[in-house]
Amino acid sequence: MALDIQNRMLCNCLRFSFLPRRIIFTTLCAVVLLIHYNFFICENIPPRIQEGYGSERTRSYPPGDMGVPVLFNKTNPTIAAAVKGSLHRYGLNEYASDLVSVRRRLPDLRDPWCREPNRLLPVLPATSVVIVFHNEAWSVLVRSVHSVLDRTPAHLLHEIILVDDCSHFPYLKTQLDEYFQAYPKVKIHRLKERLGLIRARMIGAKSASSDFLTFLDAHVECTKGWLEPLLDLVARNSTTIALPTIDRIDEIDLHFKTNVTLLLAGSFEWDLNFGWCERKMLHQRYAHPSEPFDTPAMAGGLFTIHRAFFERLGWYDEGMKIYGMENIELSLKGWMCGGRLLTVPCSRVGHIQKSAHPYLYNISMDVALYNSVRLAEVWMDEYHQVVLDVNGVRRYTEDLFGPIGERKRARVRAKCKPFRYYLERAFPELKPPAIMSLNS
Ligand SMILES: *[C@@H]1O[C@H](CO)[C@@H](O)[C@H](O)[C@H]1NC(C)=O
Ligand SMILES: *[C@@H]1O[C@H](CO)[C@@H](O)[C@H](O)[C@H]1NC(C)=O
Ligand SMILES: *[C@@H]1O[C@H](CO)[C@@H](O)[C@H](O)[C@H]1NC(C)=O
Ligand SMILES: *[C@@H]1O[C@H](CO)[C@@H](O)[C@H](O)[C@H]1NC(C)=O
Repeated sequence: MALDIQNRMLCNCLRFSFLPRRIIFTTLCAVVLLIHYNFFICENIPPRIQEGYGSERTRSYPPGDMGVPVLFNKTNPTIAAAVKGSLHRYGLNEYASDLVSVRRRLPDLRDPWCREPNRLLPVLPATSVVIVFHNEAWSVLVRSVHSVLDRTPAHLLHEIILVDDCSHFPYLKTQLDEYFQAYPKVKIHRLKERLGLIRARMIGAKSASSDFLTFLDAHVECTKGWLEPLLDLVARNSTTIALPTIDRIDEIDLHFKTNVTLLLAGSFEWDLNFGWCERKMLHQRYAHPSEPFDTPAMAGGLFTIHRAFFERLGWYDEGMKIYGMENIELSLKGWMCGGRLLTVPCSRVGHIQKSAHPYLYNISMDVALYNSVRLAEVWMDEYHQVVLDVNGVRRYTEDLFGPIGERKRARVRAKCKPFRYYLERAFPELKPPAIMSLNS
């Protein structure tokens, strides 16, 4: 892990602003750099790169600084093999990630509207941040946590709970414990058996000691001001589920793809597979594009929710497998049981879109099918058969899809509205399939 230590130093050297330390650190920095990246010079650090995210031509220093692409020699066979291997192993390019500081700088992506006075409550509550990981790449996981520590005001961060869903890579054990010993807010919770993302998240949530829960994936980077507007919405109304705007981080060169982010909203079709739709397709209109806006569905990994509301909703469906569909489930019940989902354009979190899903390796069953049948059966009333038909399933049986009686009772206890309400209020853009209108 020599690389990580070196990266931390690089990053620190950018952070000291007063003169004597700066000179010492700049010198130190120069030495380290001259050894490891002998073609760069320290004085060339740009104070702030204002443009060019996503441009192949952008040269940045240090690698990936301010969210620009990491440059590496793609024609070198050793490097190419390392990249290929890590894409298979992690679904992302660990080679590039290891070149980037675990505390890299990122631009402030917010619209100036977000920073105007009195946008937010004067006093905000603190949150517990829950991050589940399974066999994540070291530098990716550590960078995720640093981005929270570095860009969250200390009084708003109650704790960070890392839930290890039974990873087998050894560096995620003692080495991780030792690394985060210096950060008392970071707590590591080890699961004794593999429970899958859904149940692991619930365990993290239940062990959290704050009323406000914020979930993040283990391959994210939070940008400045990401948390405050999320907490603001949930503090104002405890049945609101607040979603950050997700900026995609390229899985190959780790650059921030910010150009389309603000134009999209979370959505799905009748197969219940999550996807992004153009925000302008949604019916609601807002005075300013940076206002939080009603959203039919969450991508799943990143949101803030009040603990009491999550509990009232019956957390997730524990009968679901591994992961997938729990995001749609929570979206439906969030809307149907007295709340709403809002996407917050002022909250910007980068997320690596993995090219493969190592989380699902060695899982032989079709978990998405299994989970979506359960979801349809419990939450979608007269529309449930549409989902079954799309999946080629004749009907739900307990033998194949597990018992759902408890889930149905939880729905009654939470006094939720019918699925038709969801279609009318939250997602009128989801047109019932033609066959339904013929029947009705
Ligand atoms: C990239 O690697 C190849 C093969 O090792 C080498 O021939 C080439 O000079 C390298 N290119 C650069 C820009 O370092
Ligand atoms: C955003 O950038 C990507 C390349 O990074 C490009 O393919 C895409 O067309 C751009 N979209 C818009 C709306 O500019
Ligand atoms: C909270 O949000 C829900 C759903 O939008 C709404 O029905 C309720 O009136 C709100 N409560 C308060 C106190 O604003
Ligand atoms: C999956 O199983 C294969 C063979 O059974 C094993 O070699 C591999 O390490 C496993 N991968 C994961 C991610 O569990």
